[in-house]
Amino acid sequence: MQFDKVLIIDDELVIRKALEEQLRNLRYTVASVSSLIDAENVLGKDNFDLIFLDVRLPDGDGTQLLKHFNTLPENIEKPITVVITGYGSIESAVECMKLGAFDYIIKPFSLQEIEVVLKKAESYSHLVKVNQFFSCNSTEGDLQQELLGEGPVVQHIKALIKKVASTEATVLITGENGTGKELVAREIHRLSHLASRPYITVNCAAIAENLIESEFFGHEKGAFTHALQKRIGRFELANNGTILLDEIAEISPHLQAKLLRVLQEKEFERVGGTKTLKVNTRVIASTNRDLSKSVERGDFREDLFYRLNVFPIEIPPLRERGNDILLLANYFLKRYARKHGITLNGFSDEAKNALLVHKWPGNVRELQNTIERAVILSNDQQEINERALNILPNAHVGTTLLEDPTLDLEAIEKKHILHVLNTTHGNRTKAASLLKISARTLSNKLKQYALAN
Ligand SMILES: Nc1ncnc2c1ncn2[C@@H]1O[C@H](COP(=O)(O)OP(=O)(O)OP(=O)(O)O)[C@@H](O)[C@H]1O
Ligand SMILES: [Mg+2]
Repeated sequence: MQFDKVLIIDDELVIRKALEEQLRNLRYTVASVSSLIDAENVLGKDNFDLIFLDVRLPDGDGTQLLKHFNTLPENIEKPITVVITGYGSIESAVECMKLGAFDYIIKPFSLQEIEVVLKKAESYSHLVKVNQFFSCNSTEGDLQQELLGEGPVVQHIKALIKKVASTEATVLITGENGTGKELVAREIHRLSHLASRPYITVNCAAIAENLIESEFFGHEKGAFTHALQKRIGRFELANNGTILLDEIAEISPHLQAKLLRVLQEKEFERVGGTKTLKVNTRVIASTNRDLSKSVERGDFREDLFYRLNVFPIEIPPLRERGNDILLLANYFLKRYARKHGITLNGFSDEAKNALLVHKWPGNVRELQNTIERAVILSNDQQEINERALNILPNAHVGTTLLEDPTLDLEAIEKKHILHVLNTTHGNRTKAASLLKISARTLSNKLKQYALAN
């Protein structure tokens, strides 16, 4: 994260001029003053990211300014201060460090020394900001969740994640609600060489339209009514790391244009700012919509779609993941049984059937919530039965089944049996009669399909 404005406070004209020139060459906006009183004036009018502060000044001591910063409320951002000192005043430099100065340099200093201290201060400030972001946005619990599933669907996704993680390609993750899009995005970051760098997310659907540009790119002090201080946007926070633009389909055409520029040119301006900032960020976007349809409708820029769709990952719905449904259900059963201190052995056969035939419109999240509730409802039982799951029968399973050309006869038979069992609430006699087979045949088929155990 590059600093913007630097203030030099030094009474020695030669030092001030040399430093000013060097900083301007490095594209910083520079102000310089020669006394504490002038410094106070300038600081009252503008925000600075960094101050070079001389210790001995005509109207006092640099430590006074640091003491002043320390009296300001916590939530007010203070500039990072680097003390400039002559050999004679090392003691006061130490004093300054105690008062919160970031570093000190000894006169005469070289241009390289200045560059080193700037780099250090910039990366420190970046870390502080990322830290603040995480302490305000901590997502409880789920951080370590791994992508579970042994079936071909999840194995294929895992393979794609592995492939793309080693690159910095832009990824577009699509899938219905609750299929695991955020999980996949985090996994890509975790397996990439950026893993130790920031991972920043923006939920584009959750932020009000008028604030989202500032969330993305930050704003300058006074950019709009409530912009009392300069603010760093999430792209800057994610510099050298990964940014997840969640629910990307929801952004306005205005922001789409700005995002396109970040992807193409890797540059942007803060809201209300004139300075062009550079970022180097790996972008992952996700959506539960069909973005190509949004493009057709004219809701989403085609050029942006292509920029995002470099490496698409489509996450199939839970209902297409076969026995992984049971694997996940068992995992959640154990997790929530432990969480609530309840002992349970597993699911009844009917409950398993119900899990397998339900359509899970809310996908893994729905499954997770269903199981947590069922665990609590079953605290006086040995196992979770169908009633505790309380999932609504699916009205359309029968119709979608025949439209899926990848299903073989056995699979269709299996699904149909499960569907019928679901509609009879697990009553096998009724199910057998609906299927026009004997109860014994049904029982054999359930064994054959490993649905009864
Ligand atoms: N394969 C999986 N293994 C384990 N947990 C999963 C899996 N997929 C999803 N989950 C869990 O399900 C929940 C929903 O996942 P996630 O938030 O990633 O979905 P999403 O696709 O981003 O949903 P939405 O579109 O609603 O934002 C999370 O708690 C996540 O940990
Ligand atoms: Mg999500």
